[in-house]
Amino acid sequence: MDPEITREKLIRAVRDQIECELLLGASWLPFERINNNPNRTDPDDNPTGQMTMAARAKKQVNEMDKRPMDSKQEKLDQLARVVAACCECPLHKSRLNCVPGEGDPNARIVFVGEAPGQSEDEQGRPFVGRSGDLLTNIIGAMGLSRQAVFIGNILKCRPPNNANPTPEQVAACSHFLHEQLAIIQPEVVVALGACAAQTLLKCKTPIGRLRGEFHEYRPTPDSAPIKLVATYHPSYLLRNYTPDARLSVWKDMQDVLKELGMPIPKK
Ligand code: URA
Repeated sequence: MDPEITREKLIRAVRDQIECELLLGASWLPFERINNNPNRTDPDDNPTGQMTMAARAKKQVNEMDKRPMDSKQEKLDQLARVVAACCECPLHKSRLNCVPGEGDPNARIVFVGEAPGQSEDEQGRPFVGRSGDLLTNIIGAMGLSRQAVFIGNILKCRPPNNANPTPEQVAACSHFLHEQLAIIQPEVVVALGACAAQTLLKCKTPIGRLRGEFHEYRPTPDSAPIKLVATYHPSYLLRNYTPDARLSVWKDMQDVLKELGMPIPKK
């Protein structure tokens, strides 16, 4: 053991951690407050003069309480921090970075993919590999930029070897996307591929049959409905680079632009 770690230091570290947990609302601890030192009446009191972890957390919470209602960006940032701390499924152990998603918090259109791949895992950003280049081109062909939309995924961590998400992983992670969509409240969600479309619509219908119409999606049971369009995933287009598949996706994107009253760029 590191000789620098004295018994007192260890006790102080554990005490700080527990105080912090209590402060943040932990209900599983068998007491409400640590105060077995008669001279120590407040967690802010620290004989060393240093601010304890609990005191720092309390200060932060107080400061947060004083702020005006969080903006959409702040809410998304807050959620991204929760995603980064998530251990709800084993994928957090193998990932390099989580990939919460990115883009305009006031976007009218949100694109939803399946899960980060290798490049996304390395960079912590969605759709930055080969599929991402194609998605960026599709967005460009719509007369938009990546910055003008929001891009997210059903899973926030990369499944090893890019395996298909398991039902358990989807069940553990998809609530983050619903929360993001509840914050952004876009006018249209574009579900890229079967995993995204079936997860958001809670169905098992093949992507080919989900395409070609607007569906209704609600991030929470009380949310207003959001229009959802299902289309092929860019990686499907890379594997099946046929004019038919490309045209299908372009037709789906034209439907989105028409629905939003946006101009359809000429090729
Ligand atoms: N495929 C996805 O579904 N999402 C990404 O972010 C990248 C590739």
